[in-house]
Amino acid sequence: MAEERESWKIKDEAILSELVALMGLSDEEKALLGGLADQARAMAPKMTDMFYDRLLKHQNTQEYLQGLSTERMHSMLGTWFVELFSGTYDEAYTRQRMQIGHIHVRIGLPVRYPLAMLDVIIPFGEEVARQSPRPEQALTAFRKVLALDVAVFNQAYENNQLKHLSELVGGERLARLLLAGKG
Ligand code: HEM
Repeated sequence: MAEERESWKIKDEAILSELVALMGLSDEEKALLGGLADQARAMAPKMTDMFYDRLLKHQNTQEYLQGLSTERMHSMLGTWFVELFSGTYDEAYTRQRMQIGHIHVRIGLPVRYPLAMLDVIIPFGEEVARQSPRPEQALTAFRKVLALDVAVFNQAYENNQLKHLSELVGGERLARLLLAGKG
């Protein structure tokens, strides 16, 4: 059996502080992003239009959006985008971002779709960052915060798999070893 890993002990909200430390997201970078909230709000409608245009053009993704209020979907995604520029990336932020991931787990959405949609989100986020008085630093900060978000989103998927496998095999450690192909 493989040894235990320290990373296996990091759970829930602690995940973000661990990642903030890993990525070296500084207070200065947080403040730079926080100064761009209005610009992000102005950019959000263009981003959400392109986002849902793309999902609606593809049959396998369009299926998930049937019967949902377009206005509500645009508004929720727009808020998500603006919050990338909130300047505060604390436990409440993580909990909420993790919850967004869980919502996608629960609708049975393969994780490849949200990951692929970063292609739409990134250029708009970068355009916001370029409006900062310190564009290079703001771009670096934006990439970090987006990477954190993607990591937390993915963690929601992994947590779900671990939870179910752990229940099935009677423990998380064994579940992790099985997922690593070592069980
Ligand atoms: C990076 C990619 C994505 C982001 C940031 C995102 C963001 C969000 C947010 C913020 C919500 C609202 C969660 C809440 O209720 O608090 C949501 C819900 C939802 N998303 Fe996404 N989403 C992404 C990708 C996708 C994709 C690819 C699909 C489908 C193909 C999708 C379908 C849905 C659906 C069906 C809901 C639930 C709507 C409801 O409440 O009925 N999302 N998403």
